[in-house]
Amino acid sequence: MKISLIINGEQKDVEINPDDILLDVLRKLGYYSVRRGCDTGMCGICTVLFDGKPVPSCSVFAARADGHHITTVEGLEDAKVFAQYLAEEGADQCGFCSPGLIVNTVYLKNKNIKDKEEITDKLIGNLCRCTGYVGQHRAIEKFLGVEK
Ligand code: FES
Ligand code: FES
Repeated sequence: MKISLIINGEQKDVEINPDDILLDVLRKLGYYSVRRGCDTGMCGICTVLFDGKPVPSCSVFAARADGHHITTVEGLEDAKVFAQYLAEEGADQCGFCSPGLIVNTVYLKNKNIKDKEEITDKLIGNLCRCTGYVGQHRAIEKFLGVEK
């Protein structure tokens, strides 16, 4: 079957099987920032925006995305600024988790979320094996403009 995805504002027509997963289709199209971690919707590494809302792309059938807007890190203007903050705070270690974290954090910025508890709650699904989260949270708070 053929579907049309609007990825980072650009229409992409792609031939898929009915059981193909969005994560695999995005990678097939060259969006390598979308990575596979747990493959069960638990680690947040594969997060993309689906019509503006964060979803784990490993848990979405590609067919379901037909005609919808998908945003990856490549399509987020603020991604470089946040990535710089991660580097400044020593939270850019192996970087495997970074794309999913960036997508989710930019979403929080777009929603103007600045409450520390709410931030922690919303990002609890973004797992990281390297950083211990402290540096990440410093970078996140800087990026979101959280008051000290
Ligand atoms: S790979 Fe999708 S949530 Fe872990
Ligand atoms: S920086 Fe390595 S998993 Fe997060």
